[in-house]
Amino acid sequence: MKQETKQLLEQYGQTHLLSFYDQMKDHQKLDFERQLDTLDWSVFDCFDENSSQDGKGIISPIDALSIADIEANRDTYVRIGLEAVKAGKVGALLLAGGQGTRLGFGGPKGSFNIGVTKELYLFEQLLKNTMDVVKESGTWIPFFIMTSDKNHEETVGFLKEHNYFGYNPDYIFFFTQDMAPCMDYEKKLLMETKEQLAFSPNGNGGWFTSFANAGLLKKAKEMGVEWLNCFSVDNVLQRIADPCFVGAVISAGCVSGAKVVRKADPNERVGVLCLEDGKPSIIEYYEMTPEMTYSQNNRGEYLYCFGVILNYLFRIDQLEEIMEKRLSTHVVEKKIPYVDPDGTEHHPEKPNGYKFEKLILDMIHMLENCLAYEVDREKEFAPVKNKEGVDSIDTARELLRKNGIEF
Ligand code: UTP
Repeated sequence: MKQETKQLLEQYGQTHLLSFYDQMKDHQKLDFERQLDTLDWSVFDCFDENSSQDGKGIISPIDALSIADIEANRDTYVRIGLEAVKAGKVGALLLAGGQGTRLGFGGPKGSFNIGVTKELYLFEQLLKNTMDVVKESGTWIPFFIMTSDKNHEETVGFLKEHNYFGYNPDYIFFFTQDMAPCMDYEKKLLMETKEQLAFSPNGNGGWFTSFANAGLLKKAKEMGVEWLNCFSVDNVLQRIADPCFVGAVISAGCVSGAKVVRKADPNERVGVLCLEDGKPSIIEYYEMTPEMTYSQNNRGEYLYCFGVILNYLFRIDQLEEIMEKRLSTHVVEKKIPYVDPDGTEHHPEKPNGYKFEKLILDMIHMLENCLAYEVDREKEFAPVKNKEGVDSIDTARELLRKNGIEF
């Protein structure tokens, strides 16, 4: 092992990671050393960063383009949006690198079958939703898929095996996101096996750097893509590359847009789009003060009522500018399986350590503006987050049924 690597381990108090080194075979040693050499040691600084973030700027409500506003201008927005799609300016970007731990499904979340009387995979429904716009515009929309080391091969294999559910494979591009190490509450890095460090995907905010590093930013620009619609893997009802949304953002002269729903109740656990020091910002539900949660305007409407649904439109040139700045890293407490220095495997049932994530919602605050675009949650918001209860398989099935989708 290189002297510098040993020094780093000592400097960061991580020599416990060498417990199994002597038992490793030569190729395992090489692989393990490579993991250490490429490790993002900056995660150790995140704790200071997070504690020095003393609150937010001045928060104020944001005006949204309401469903009524959209309906009044639908034809114009659709015309403008379709023009952009037909000109190849709009790409779709599926964030599918997450681990879907809440759903507790073994494979990549997109390969989850939500069907009852027939198969209906999450990936399938998302590709079908995109096909609606492909058909309407007569144009294949470049469809980028972000995976992680944890699910890349399975995702690629699954989609190939299902013939990309009828989508043109020439327009499907995969890339993998970066990984971040995991540590316990004593800030000791964890081992997933006796030969491997424990890593987890570095959050959905890592997408743009990974997209660019994979050469896809260059590729997208060569193809003429100017806008990217980023969305999550689990909202089966969402509209993708939606011409009306694209047209509305372009008409408003905005550099980004976020689809929002009116919160079901003031305490719904969704991030809220608002303004922070006059710039768009998303406040997480746990950051809301009671005053923000309950304040109303004189029509009795809640001021902070627009929840984001992880469906954003970004103008690519603006993303390139913000890439120069650093997205903050969030420290999140999670259940992390690990092998202890005695060689015993642990599968914790409650959080036992930290993962490090960059979040796409932080990108919004780095941009000059963002159009809040209201959608009907009954028609466009059916996330499959949990096995049961809120935002679960059952609630999504109910909404699929209401929207006449067979499954
Ligand atoms: P979630 O916040 O729901 O996380 O991701 P998750 O990992 O899928 O699920 P849980 O929290 O473990 O149950 C929202 C979207 O961001 C993607 C997910 O795939 C999903 O589409 N994501 C999340 C990534 O692409 N990479 C990540 O590192 C995290």
